[in-house]
Amino acid sequence: KVVDNLVGVRQDEQELSRILGIENCLIVSGDSDEQPKVLDAMGKSVAAKLALLLPEGKNLIAVMGGTTMAQVADQLTTRLSIKRDLTFLPARGGVGESVDIQANSISGKMALQTGGNHRALYVPEQLSERTYEPLLEEPSIQEVLSLIKESNAVIHSIGEAMHMAKRRDMSSGIINMLKDDKAVGEAFGYFFDAQGKVVYKIPRIGLQIEDLTHIKCIVAVAGGHSKAEAIVAYMKQLAPKQTWLITDEGAANSILKK
Ligand code: BG6
Repeated sequence: KVVDNLVGVRQDEQELSRILGIENCLIVSGDSDEQPKVLDAMGKSVAAKLALLLPEGKNLIAVMGGTTMAQVADQLTTRLSIKRDLTFLPARGGVGESVDIQANSISGKMALQTGGNHRALYVPEQLSERTYEPLLEEPSIQEVLSLIKESNAVIHSIGEAMHMAKRRDMSSGIINMLKDDKAVGEAFGYFFDAQGKVVYKIPRIGLQIEDLTHIKCIVAVAGGHSKAEAIVAYMKQLAPKQTWLITDEGAANSILKK
C-alpha cells in the first residue's frame, strides 16, 4: 500500500511538472491551508532538495519573504553547510511586509539555522522616488545589490494576489487596478493574471524575474488549494524551466483536478 502510494505520488509529480512546463515538482501530503504542519513538511523537503542541489564551496542564496519562507527557514540546519560556505541575501528590497516575514529577516534566520552568513538590504519602505534614488548610490547598498545579482540559488514563494496586496497595505487605487486586471498571483513583487501576464510590479530594487534565467538552482515553495491558480499562472508563463516546485496535495490536486 505504501509503495502504491509512492508510485501514485511520483506519477502526480510528473503530471504536475508536465502541466506546469517545468522540470521538477515535489508534492508533500496534506493541504497547508487546512493543516499548518504541512508547511513544516514542505520546509523539510526544501532543506533536503537544497542539500542535493547546491554545489560545494561558496554559495550566494537569494531569498524572498513570506510566511511560507519563514517556515522553510525553521527547517534548515547546519547540515546544509557541510562542505559549503553559505551566504543568504534578501532577493529584493522591502516589499511592505511585517518585520518577521521580511526577506531580510528570513535570510538572517536561514544564516542562523545553517551557521552561514547573511547580508541585509536596508532600504526603507514608502520612500518617494527622490529619496530612493540617491540611496541606491550608497556603496553599502550597491555592494549587497551586486552580491544579489551574483547569486547562484534562489528560494521563493508564490502568493495569492489579493491576499498579498492587502497584507502589504497597497493603496485602494492599486487594489482596484489589480481587480480590474484580474490579478491572481504574486511572486517577487510582480502581480500577474491567470495567463501569467504581469499586470503590476512593485517598484523595488534587487532581483527581477528576468534575472532568474541564469540562476541554476531555483526552488519555489508554495502550497494550499488557495494558491493553485497563482502557482499555475506563475509556472506556466514566468518561471524558468529549471525551477523546482515544492508543493502540497492541496495545491497539486486542485491543479490536477483530482
Ligand atoms: C512574500 C514574497 O513575502 O511572500 C512574495 O515577497 C510571496 O513573493 C509571498 O508571494 C508569499 O507569502 P506567504 O505568506 O503566502 O508565504
